[in-house]
Amino acid sequence: MVIRTGVEPVSSAVPAPEPEDGVTRYPSCMREKVTVPTIRARKGGPKISMVTAYDYPGAVIADRAGVDIVLVGDSAANVVHGMTTTLEFGMEETIMHSRAVKRADPRSLFVVDMPWLSFHISPEDTVRNAGRIVQEGGAEAVKLEGGRKRLPMIERILDAEIPVMGHLGLTPQSVHAMGGFKVQGKMVDAAQQILEDARAIADAGCFSIVLEGVPDILGELITKEVDVPTIGIGAGPATDGQVLVFHDLLGLGSGKYPKFVRRYAELADVAVAALERYVADVGSGDFPGEDESYHVSEEIAAEMLKGRSSD
Ligand code: KIV
Repeated sequence: MVIRTGVEPVSSAVPAPEPEDGVTRYPSCMREKVTVPTIRARKGGPKISMVTAYDYPGAVIADRAGVDIVLVGDSAANVVHGMTTTLEFGMEETIMHSRAVKRADPRSLFVVDMPWLSFHISPEDTVRNAGRIVQEGGAEAVKLEGGRKRLPMIERILDAEIPVMGHLGLTPQSVHAMGGFKVQGKMVDAAQQILEDARAIADAGCFSIVLEGVPDILGELITKEVDVPTIGIGAGPATDGQVLVFHDLLGLGSGKYPKFVRRYAELADVAVAALERYVADVGSGDFPGEDESYHVSEEIAAEMLKGRSSD
């Protein structure tokens, strides 16, 4: 069970409650639950913030910061599992990460990526997989990559009352078809295709669309032409919201970041420095200290040591 105690404003640090069962849980901020209709209604309104989260602490942190949408992205393949593409990431991994995020009970809308091949085989297979992500993973919406080609799958998922977020432009699951992770829609014809895709999936009922790796002008054009919120990642400033990968924006990556990433912290450096101090303290015997050790009374200690040599 997640304990909610906070009445603090979104940005304040919230102390952890006393654990009742030995497991520390953090209260989420008191704020309205973000839902699919509230995101849908943000078209042209206050900008939407979205970040990936792959586990319980990541979701707690994103929720405490007041992020509108948390996404279990299949980018977990890269940033958590060290894979080079998202193609190795399947349904079981998706559900395991989703369950961890769900336990944080975020006020943020909770969206989960449909992994590669989970929505390509047939509409029946697709709706079963989307259903598992909701039923077993606790997702409130699913996201899937692709445009008009995926319409039968999108329609089938929507028919099961599962909200769908689209994803167009640089779609990492198409890495081999694209010939690498390359900015998409740089020529007029290609841009027109992406725009047509955006219109089609918005008309089909997607409640929002992620636009990844497209020129800013195309991000702006699509944002003006579709009536659902667009959420950009490397798509310029005109989209209705922005999304970044948790590990990128916090500087938890391995040092190479895409051009569109703004790093708000360098947590990998902070973590390495802290661990270096720990290694040194263990080596020198400085850790653990008196305050970090458990003690018994002098009488019990004397009893324990009775009859043993002191050296
Ligand atoms: O998997 C992911 O992290 C994503 C975001 C980049 C939108 O799809």
